[in-house]
Amino acid sequence: MLPEIHTAIPGPRSRELAGKLAKYEVREVTFLSDDFPIFWERAEGTNVWDVDGNRFLDFTSAFAVSGLGHSSPVVRKPLLEQAGKLLHAMGDVHPAGVKADLCEALSRVTFERWNAGTGKTILCNSGSEAVEAALKTSLLHSGKPGVIYFSGAYHGLGYGALEAGGLPYFRDPFRSQLAKWGVQVPYPSCYRCPCGRKEGFRLEGEPFPNCATTCLEEISAQILAAIRQREIGCIIVEPIQGRGGEVVPPRDFLTMLRRICDAEKVLLVLDEIYTGFNRTGKLFACEHFDVIPDIICLGKALTGGFPLAACVGRADIMDAWPASQGEALHTSTMLGNPLGCAMAVAAIAEHSKNETQAQAQEAGRRLKTALGGLRSPFIGDVRGAGTMLGVELVKGDGAPFGKLAGAIMVRGLQEGLILLGGGPDGNVLSFSPPFAISDAEVAYLTGKLQAYFEQLPQTLA
Ligand SMILES: Cc1ncc(COP(=O)(O)O)c(C=O)c1O
Repeated sequence: MLPEIHTAIPGPRSRELAGKLAKYEVREVTFLSDDFPIFWERAEGTNVWDVDGNRFLDFTSAFAVSGLGHSSPVVRKPLLEQAGKLLHAMGDVHPAGVKADLCEALSRVTFERWNAGTGKTILCNSGSEAVEAALKTSLLHSGKPGVIYFSGAYHGLGYGALEAGGLPYFRDPFRSQLAKWGVQVPYPSCYRCPCGRKEGFRLEGEPFPNCATTCLEEISAQILAAIRQREIGCIIVEPIQGRGGEVVPPRDFLTMLRRICDAEKVLLVLDEIYTGFNRTGKLFACEHFDVIPDIICLGKALTGGFPLAACVGRADIMDAWPASQGEALHTSTMLGNPLGCAMAVAAIAEHSKNETQAQAQEAGRRLKTALGGLRSPFIGDVRGAGTMLGVELVKGDGAPFGKLAGAIMVRGLQEGLILLGGGPDGNVLSFSPPFAISDAEVAYLTGKLQAYFEQLPQTLA
């Protein structure tokens, strides 16, 4: 449904709650200003209602979690049924039955579907933890501590995930406490090519650019040099970068990484926490390239709204972990929480249906076409796959125009649009709506955006 706004934004009740947070929450967590935030009360489908009764249209799926729609009955029903029976169990001692069902479902939907044997899982409470479980696996499997990661990468904010993260904003304040096992290499962003080439060309209808091989050769040389100089156990990579600004690599990038990993006996860890579960128009983004990872990290849409994530790897690799002798080496109090497991089992089944994938693809096509129709000298690039789309905003000289993205988010909120910015400079409008987004809702978005592009830049000089 289209937005319906009855109060100033934020409304009086949101302002009151912001006051409470200002007093009781650590300052760095929630951005509080005269314009932000609204406090959510309920959500359904593509809509969110705030505590002041205003209705918003969500183009973020709340950080790419609610692809199936907010409060989707697909996950709400099993959640409520499970809540009526069992809220919590003893994850690594006496687990809930549904934990076993979820581990099986994760194997079926990944490695078994790819005809690559069985997948074995470590369940986690956040994406960051799933990444760290993968990094621990890499060390146990190879005995080598080194990890190759990419500029612009976002894998979460725990200290392990942070050491493999390529966004200075998150790393820099904590650099002195980070262990130094990571080696950063450039991510092949075609819009801001690390080799200084012009944008890679895209085939009609193809989300992936396919430039000449210069940048891949350069990146490959840097990776091989790192492997020669350091003890490297794995390469960790997002098939399309999310928080880094919806950056789509050239089509041959993942294939190249797979080839290097095979030749050098290094594990390929794909972080599909953002891209997984139809977000890019395939069940998993690696399926665009026919690349099978050694380990895949999943989260976000895995449950559609519960803090549960997973590190799933090929069984022979995951068996590098020793059998439990009664004390798990990697676990947590809430591991395999039955509520999250019940939601995830149902979400996986829904995401596996052809209809869900078709709906995600169709929504992505419509949104990308509409965003591509926006006209402004401040739009540098429109990119992405499926419903994971970014519009990069630039000034006349091509420099990032983060202020414009910020102003659009504020103005959009006032008119009922929930939008997010991303990229190292905050200048990429990032879209990841629920798959059921309608034509009218997309038209509302682009109508407003076009007006903002015409009105806002001159106010920001
Ligand atoms: C690709 C990717 N990996 C990992 C994470 C971290 O997940 P979490 O915030 O659940 O720790 C995110 C979160 O945005 C992500 O986009």
